[in-house]
Amino acid sequence: MKPLIIALALVLALPAPAYAGPRPPRDLRELAHQHGIRIGTAVDIAALRGEADYRKVLNHQFNHVTAENAMKWESVEPERGAYTWADADALVQNARRNRQRVRGHTLVWHNQLPAWLTAGVADGSIAPAELRRILRDHITTQVRRYKGKIRAWDVVNEVVEEDGSLRQNIWLTHLGPGYIADAFRWAHRADPHAKLFINDYNLEWNAPKIETTLSLVKDLQARGVPIHGVGFQGHLGIQYDYPGDWANVMRRFADLGLEIAVTELDVRMVLPVTPEKLTTQADYYRRALTDCLSVEACKELTVWGFTDRHSWVPGWFDGEGAACLLDEDLAPKPAYRALLGVRAR
Ligand code: XIL
Repeated sequence: MKPLIIALALVLALPAPAYAGPRPPRDLRELAHQHGIRIGTAVDIAALRGEADYRKVLNHQFNHVTAENAMKWESVEPERGAYTWADADALVQNARRNRQRVRGHTLVWHNQLPAWLTAGVADGSIAPAELRRILRDHITTQVRRYKGKIRAWDVVNEVVEEDGSLRQNIWLTHLGPGYIADAFRWAHRADPHAKLFINDYNLEWNAPKIETTLSLVKDLQARGVPIHGVGFQGHLGIQYDYPGDWANVMRRFADLGLEIAVTELDVRMVLPVTPEKLTTQADYYRRALTDCLSVEACKELTVWGFTDRHSWVPGWFDGEGAACLLDEDLAPKPAYRALLGVRAR
């Protein structure tokens, strides 16, 4: 009897437990909500259409989406003047039904251009003046189609080389560096409310790329060009060090008044998968989210696919894979649990 009374007295005398903040999030949507950011994923349209389990996880877990390929130029205008919007429309529709915002990806790039365009430029049948009109019409048509439905556009993608020079793509070669400002102005005119981003890879750590991109942004701003954000693709691999200065780089762009987004996060590994590698991968995902949360202007973290069943990595990096949060059976990996464990700022 006595010990019970003592225990009871102790419990009554103790102060109520301190409020420990919100309960742990049950999924990525709750995590995003608790942190006041958006958590997104790239979407494979064939999987969205054909795989009920993929669709279920996508719509349950994410509050932001990017078309992995469906909004690229070769997808929307494979033949000149013949637009094929069905896939992009399907993504936007599915997003609206599931309360997901959309990142448009991408208006100006050097890859996945339609053959009619690259061939026409190569054989001279499309001269620079016409090329400029084609680019203007492409941007205007696509941005206008989704006016009010796309939160943010990757207006230009990968326009700076590793050595800090502007990329020698068909746009720079035939239109000169002014194509970048033009692209932002045309996009802004077509949807004045969309946030307009410059997007790139290795911008997490590559000094020449960082410096050139910062100068580019400052120059655009000085000329009154509407640019609102910078996207860090974030294609990481555990065989490389984690980009430890990333938060500082984000801050330098935030200091220019830009919104920050991690737009294509994945963390690949050299196969085979081992428990140790999965632990390291989890740590990279955790650090990427932590870095984003440490910068007030970072409002979106998007992964480039959420399941190893549909990831670009094995097709693009020989012998590498397993880069996503869920495995091929949609089972959560340590990386998924690591994200849920990141506490509110
Ligand atoms: C990739 C897609 O994931 C692949 O399916 C496609 O074959 C090639 O493009 N940077 C980008 C993305 O900006 O558009 C790329 O997506 C990955 C690298």
